[in-house]
Amino acid sequence: MSVENSSTAKPLNLLQRPRRLRRTATLRRMVRETTLTVDDLIYPMFVMEGEGQKVEITSMPGCYRYSLDLLLKEIAEVSQLGIPAIALFPVISENKKDDIGAESYNPDGLVQQTVKAIKQTVPGIVVITDVALDPFTTHGHDGLVDENGTILNDPTVEVLVKMALSQAAAGTDFVAPSDMMDGRIGAIRQALDAEGYINVGILAYSAKYASAYYGPFRDALDSAPKFGDKKTYQMDAANAKEAIKEVELDIAEGADIVMVKPALAYLDIIHQVRQATQLPVAAYNVSGEYAMIKAAAQMGWINEKQVILESLTSMKRAGADLILTYFAKEVALMLL
Ligand code: PBG
Repeated sequence: MSVENSSTAKPLNLLQRPRRLRRTATLRRMVRETTLTVDDLIYPMFVMEGEGQKVEITSMPGCYRYSLDLLLKEIAEVSQLGIPAIALFPVISENKKDDIGAESYNPDGLVQQTVKAIKQTVPGIVVITDVALDPFTTHGHDGLVDENGTILNDPTVEVLVKMALSQAAAGTDFVAPSDMMDGRIGAIRQALDAEGYINVGILAYSAKYASAYYGPFRDALDSAPKFGDKKTYQMDAANAKEAIKEVELDIAEGADIVMVKPALAYLDIIHQVRQATQLPVAAYNVSGEYAMIKAAAQMGWINEKQVILESLTSMKRAGADLILTYFAKEVALMLL
């Protein structure tokens, strides 16, 4: 006899008892509104020069900078796990950096070579390449800087266009401008089309906030800005309407997928962007979000797996179709 029936108390006269649908795991599975699958995941990966190199990123335990040979092995494994896409970020040695990020559009640069090699060895995986100057500039900003320290918009867009074209020539599937300059999506779309790369897509970092959650990523790339901050191009954390404005502009300029970044502190923005467009919406579960979970888990203060799944599920529930996450491999293994 169940506890409910053995109670001497008279049952409440309730027409609705929501707990009925939570009674067993099977019932909960039947009425679950949101599912996280491996198909939703994009794995950001770091490539460095050299051979036989795999260097753990101190502030991102479990994430590595790989030289190309080892990166290819890792990508084969990622693909085996069913993860459909990777987002590639280069670690550029100091001697290749300059004021204008010229290495970014070198046809034989690290990113370009890596994309070609991936397309030869793991052709099925979708390759997304970052378009922004910060890994390539001595000053660490995403754009060109004048003598007063102002980040120049239109001259930067010219360089970004060259960078995107060189990535398209190498065989990338999507270029992903993460720089937040005005008008770059339109300029890149026009240039890609003019050069015949009509099938190269654009994943636009549309609502990218000036966020302290990027700290560990900047460690990974040694790309922290040497002066000032990114607040004149990345968005103010307090703004939501502006996110919709940015999304609308990027769509008008030719974006295929729009993104909100970071994710967890911006679930409301993900939700609003979801309402504002029929395009796929991506969310970037950034380095700081990863580091916080890893750190708390290492201290034994949280259940790591459950917190990861709960966090990513909340991003999907908010409206994200795709999630860029350093947890991609771990999640794929959990969902197997
Ligand atoms: C730079 C870029 C950043 C990230 C992706 N591309 C950092 C920044 O804007 O300073 C952050 C990713 C992360 O924190 O995981 N164009």
